[in-house]
Order: sequence, then C-alpha cells, then structure tokens
Amino acid sequence: MNLSERDQKHLWHPYTQHKTASPAIVIKRGEGALLWDENNKEYIDAIASWWVNPFGHSNRFIANAIYKQLTTLEHVLFGGFTHEPAIVLGEKLMEILPKNQQKLFFSDNGSTAVEIAIKVALQYFFNKGEKKTTIIAFENAFHGDTFAAMAASGISFFTEAFQGMLIEVIRIPVPTKGNEQVSFDALAKAIKSKNCAGFIFEPLVQGAAGMVMYEPEALDNLVRICKENKVLTIADEVMTGFGKTGKNFACDYLTEQPDMMCLSKALTGGTIPMAITTFTQDIFDAFYDEDINKALFHGHTFTGNPTGCAAALASLHLLQTQEMQDNLIRVNQRHLAFQKQIKNHPKVTTTRVLGVIFALEIQTESAASYYGSLRNKLYNFFIENGIIIRPVGNIVYILPPYVITDEQLQKVYKVVEKALEIV
Ligand SMILES: Cc1ncc(COP(=O)(O)O)c(C=O)c1O
Repeated sequence: MNLSERDQKHLWHPYTQHKTASPAIVIKRGEGALLWDENNKEYIDAIASWWVNPFGHSNRFIANAIYKQLTTLEHVLFGGFTHEPAIVLGEKLMEILPKNQQKLFFSDNGSTAVEIAIKVALQYFFNKGEKKTTIIAFENAFHGDTFAAMAASGISFFTEAFQGMLIEVIRIPVPTKGNEQVSFDALAKAIKSKNCAGFIFEPLVQGAAGMVMYEPEALDNLVRICKENKVLTIADEVMTGFGKTGKNFACDYLTEQPDMMCLSKALTGGTIPMAITTFTQDIFDAFYDEDINKALFHGHTFTGNPTGCAAALASLHLLQTQEMQDNLIRVNQRHLAFQKQIKNHPKVTTTRVLGVIFALEIQTESAASYYGSLRNKLYNFFIENGIIIRPVGNIVYILPPYVITDEQLQKVYKVVEKALEIV
C-alpha cells in the first residue's frame, strides 16, 4: 500500500466528508512558503497552512530553539511548577500586548483559548454573586469547535447537530460598512434583553467567514457599549494575532481595549500546538480569594509546555526583526497593487486587503455555499496549478507566510486571475 492508501485505512481528516472527498495529498517536505508532495510536485502555501505559519516551513531558527528546549526540559506539569521559558514568554508578550492585559493562561489551540475566555467570563460574574449566563457574538463568527467555541460560532452547518446543547448566545450583525448602526443597536438590545456576561468577536477580520472586514471605529464603539454595561469583551485574535493585520494585534488599531484576548496559530510560528488567553488584572482578581471554589478549575495536561514556550519565544523574536516587519509591509503593498489591478474585473464583486490578508468575492448567480460546487471547482483548480488556497464559497483569499517571495506571490496572483476564467 502507498502512503495515501495507508492514510485512508486509519485516518479521519478534519472538515472532511470521506465518501466524496479526494484522497489527502501526501506532503513530504516544506521550506519557506513552499511544500512538496510525494511526487515532488511543488505547492505554494498561500494560506500559511490555516494561518499558522508566518516565518516559513521548517524554519531553522525555531527548530533550533525547539531542539535546545527538548534536550533541556521537554515538559513539566504546570500545576505547582513553573519554568523560565513560560516566565520569559509571559514577560515578552506583556511588552507587546495592550497595556490592560496583565495575566495569561496557557492551553493548546484556538478553541481551548476561546473556551477558557468564555468560561472565565461566566465564572467572573458567578464569583461576584451575579447571574449572567448569556454570551454575545457576531453572525457568521468562527471561534472553534469545542462546545463553548461552537456556541459562539455562527456558521450553521458546523454546529447544526448540536443545537439545543449549547450555551445561550445572542448573535448580532457585523458592523461592516453601512451596517454599523444596526450592529450597535443590536448589541444594546441584546444587553437589555438578557443578563450578558461577555461579547466575543474576531477583531477587524472574520477569517473563516471569508475574511469579512470592518473598521476599528465600529469595534471601538461596540467595546465601549459593553464597558458601559459591564459586559466583558473577548478579542479572539487566534487568526489576526502576530502581524496578520499589519500590526502585532488587530486590537492595536483600537482605542478601547478588550478585557480578554485569545492567541494561538502563529504564536509558535506553526510548529508546536499552543494557545494563550490573556486577562486584565480585574478579571484575575475576581478569582483571587481565600475561597478555593473561586479559583479557575481549568487546565490541560500540556498547559505551559516548555517546548511550545521556546517555539513561541523564537517566533516572537522573528516577528520583531526588521526583516519580518519589512516583509509585512512588502506583502501588503503587493496585495494593494493586485487589488488595484483586479477590482474592476467583471467577475469580481468586492476585494478586501488588510495587512497580509487579501480577499476577493466572485460574482455568482445564486448564493455560493461554503463547501459547494464552485468552491470545489476553484479549490481543485488551485491545487492543479500548485497553489494551496481554500476558497470559502465564492470568496478567494490569500494569507501567505510573511516570507513568501515576490515571485511566488506573483504566481499566486496570476493563478487567482486565471481562476476567474473558469467560473
Ligand atoms: C478566530 C478563530 N478562533 C478560533 C479558532 C479555532 O482554532 P483551533 O482550530 O486551533 O482550535 C480559529 C480557527 O480557525 C479561528 O480562526
């Protein structure tokens, strides 16, 4: 049996209907923005492998940091023990996070970072003797696949099977251009109608919805409304964090700062699964008590894993180099130039750019479904042409590793343009 056949014998892939899906492509090797399959076919990873990999595949600098850590202290339980990589990572993150963030809690992935934020929002009020059990979230949000994260997510067929089993969530419209007031009013109404503990949002860009973007001023206003009404705000920066929007965090565009932030994906440069949820001192203080029942009884076996911390420290170092900051500007400029060139194409309805994120919507006669035939046709076309892009319905987006070369980017743009001819 070849690798593909062996894969199909035992492995169950994410977001995959195995009866109709093509066999998974066997990837053997990666370097920079490139991946090679078992037949040595080359692919440009134009979505940084689900947005995790800013500094390129098989990055030697991070690999060396991981190796050094693995051969010093690979893991130690974080209950009752600590270690330098976690302590230094905490200090380094505090230097770049919004000033109101003071405490951080480790976990393993974006969903757990969100799960923890939502649990903390609910327990914060419980600890204060107030009953607040509803969460507010945006329509079409995506916050992950664990139960609370699923509840906050609005993409229906991901969560359909679990309706009635999820915590109560009120969904409000995203304040995209022209919809700001509707969104503000819906938030105010939600807060009036229920005892809301928290409002969770993907700041400025809704990734899984197809890179839907909205302005910082609108988000500032929503956060302000929450603050005036004692609703905790949770910025889910799992996708946007660590440079994707052109700044370290999307929240850096805001004047109002959230009470909690969720970080993962690019945190370790796409190497070790790790996540962090950060909090204000006020939130931590609501759990700080003689009463043990007020503690946060949440933890994962690999909480604060030293190897993950070492990978995150190496990643942070790379992010802060002049070379990487120049890459962020370069990729953004190339996207803007491509946007200018493509936006009047008869098959393109809208284009969006923020930082290293580019998206365009293709004109369709009827609404394109998330995993519909148009999406599949486009996806297959990109794969045939050696580009990894996963369209969301009729939305094609590019979110490459920051180290992608100009030549590779031009190839991606060219194939995207060619794809417009097959729809
Ligand atoms: C904004 C956001 N939050 C949470 C998640 C879930 O992260 P994970 O897949 O690591 O659980 C994602 C994943 O795409 C995301 O985009």
